[in-house]
Amino acid sequence: MNLNLSFPFANNMLPHLTDTSLSIAGKVILITGAYGLIGQTIALSFLHQGACVILADINTGKQREVENIVSDIFPDRQFLFNTLDITCEESCQNTIHAVVQKFGRLDVLINNAAVDAKFDAEHTSNTHNARFENYPIALLRNSIEVNLTGTILITQYACRQMLKQNSGNIINVASTYSLVAPNQNLYDFEDGQQRFKPVDYVASKSFIPNFTRYIATLYAREGIRCNAILPHGIFNNHEIPFLENFARLSPLGRMCDRNELTGPFTFLASDASSYMTGSLLSVDGGWTAW
Ligand SMILES: NC(=O)c1ccc[n+]([C@@H]2O[C@H](COP(=O)([O-])OP(=O)(O)OC[C@H]3O[C@@H](n4cnc5c(N)ncnc54)[C@H](O)[C@@H]3O)[C@@H](O)[C@H]2O)c1
Repeated sequence: MNLNLSFPFANNMLPHLTDTSLSIAGKVILITGAYGLIGQTIALSFLHQGACVILADINTGKQREVENIVSDIFPDRQFLFNTLDITCEESCQNTIHAVVQKFGRLDVLINNAAVDAKFDAEHTSNTHNARFENYPIALLRNSIEVNLTGTILITQYACRQMLKQNSGNIINVASTYSLVAPNQNLYDFEDGQQRFKPVDYVASKSFIPNFTRYIATLYAREGIRCNAILPHGIFNNHEIPFLENFARLSPLGRMCDRNELTGPFTFLASDASSYMTGSLLSVDGGWTAW
């Protein structure tokens, strides 16, 4: 076996320098759930860094708005808008086909699309408040369909293409709640109505770390890497009671600015992370550290 290892400074040799660039310029990157909070943030950052970005999402009603933003800021960049329902086989197949037709290959898949009960100013009142014992099973089934089955489906179609290329990179977007239970004190705004981060999100996101390891180990010798990012608490106009609870419970004492995600996503999408596969990268302000 030729291990091809070189040892820095042995025999007065220079260290072996590999290309571990953080550059993602020219990489073809498909982002699912691209019209949402995190999807838009990383799409804009990747375009800024010269990547070819496919923004795919089920929400056709939001496409025009996001398309206007992207074409205003990046008229000269390479991008594609695509309607994708990750729970539908035909839709997944069509998306991968469209990517390959336009760009010739798929370098990076970011599995970002998900349904999630949110507690920002816009969504708190629409979030179902039932505690676990009364939580509607229909909501659980829907989350499993999107967050689990849908993530697997689009990954299957992406892997078929990446296997043809002998290269590929998959980044799964997990959550703090893929690792630990929600501290429900975060959702108590002392207004007489305790809210709960529901079980559907925890159940459907808990599969991501092991799915990441499954794909990483299965395809490690076929040129495909797979890692996961675990964000937590991205600020999106949350109200004061939520912000105060968050500050008290978080080691860093504050929510995450969406732009603080772009570095970790860029790192995993780039060749700088070439020796990483099956890893979980927490971006949670220390939430899971205590
Ligand atoms: N926002 C946070 O604080 C936070 C924290 C931890 C993890 N996450 C994870 O980050 C990812 C993105 O979260 P976000 O806050 O941007 O959510 P978001 O709700 O703003 O965006 C999610 C996007 O997914 C799309 N989507 C839903 N179902 C789909 C389907 N079947 N097919 C294709 N697209 C679909 C939605 O239309 C939406 O645009 C999710 O995986 C979420 O679990 C978010």
